[in-house]
Amino acid sequence: MSSPFGTETVLDVHHWTDAYFSFTTTRDPGFRFDNGQFVMIGLEVEQPDGRVKPLMRAYSVASANWEEELEFFSIKVQDGPLTSRLQHVKPGDKILVGRKPTGTLLISDLHPGRNLYLLGTGTGLAPWLSIIKDPETYERFERVIVCHGVRHIADLAYQQHINHDLKQHEFLGELIGDKLLYYPAVTREPFTHEGRDHRGRLTDAMASGVMMQNLGIEPLDAEHDRAMICGSPAMLADFRTLLDGRGFQASPRIGSLGTYVFERAFVEK
Ligand code: A2P
Repeated sequence: MSSPFGTETVLDVHHWTDAYFSFTTTRDPGFRFDNGQFVMIGLEVEQPDGRVKPLMRAYSVASANWEEELEFFSIKVQDGPLTSRLQHVKPGDKILVGRKPTGTLLISDLHPGRNLYLLGTGTGLAPWLSIIKDPETYERFERVIVCHGVRHIADLAYQQHINHDLKQHEFLGELIGDKLLYYPAVTREPFTHEGRDHRGRLTDAMASGVMMQNLGIEPLDAEHDRAMICGSPAMLADFRTLLDGRGFQASPRIGSLGTYVFERAFVEK
């Protein structure tokens, strides 16, 4: 039987803070995925008995399915079985990548609509990085709003990429136009963005309507708007309660349409 994991080579590593880093790897041309999906990745780790075993965790693919390389966005947990090791990878190192990507964060499971809210905290940003590079996202939705909630300003990884670089992208730039909006939120220090107060949790900003006011867009409306959620179990529960209370309906399963979808960000690493 062939191994459930392939081996890829690390190409580039970027450390954002003491808490977050990103890296890219080679991609097997046979590795296919849908934007927003996750895959198991990991390292061969020596066990106390001297045997080497794969240590794998689920990671959203942060690159788009048309890109040549794979990209991942990871937390660093100092005593985490995998990330205590993974945070030290260097270009040229090998990592294991599962052959079966899966997951519920698929734009094809959402009814087309007006404003698509991509709600992520911490590494819950990762699937949005893939989805905002998918041309189809801009065909199905009039606006795409990347919401990233973090503790500290320095944790706002990919800010420049989302807010500036993608709009200049040679193929995507025209498609994105002014459809792509960015809503950062910082909870543990004062924070203003484009002259407005963005301190606090994303849940509170959405529930109060401050988010839409700050963005200058219509109030939340289940008839027209759609959402994707990725974060901790508590964050998912709070956003689901909020959206359910506003008349949104979760897609019941992969392949069935809803007005929102959700997935747990895989944080205990
Ligand atoms: P807070 O600082 O108030 O806990 P973490 O670093 O723990 O993964 O958290 C990332 C961000 O998600 C933090 O800004 C945190 O805010 C926020 N957060 C934590 N729990 C929730 C929740 N239930 N709903 C919305 N945001 C949350």
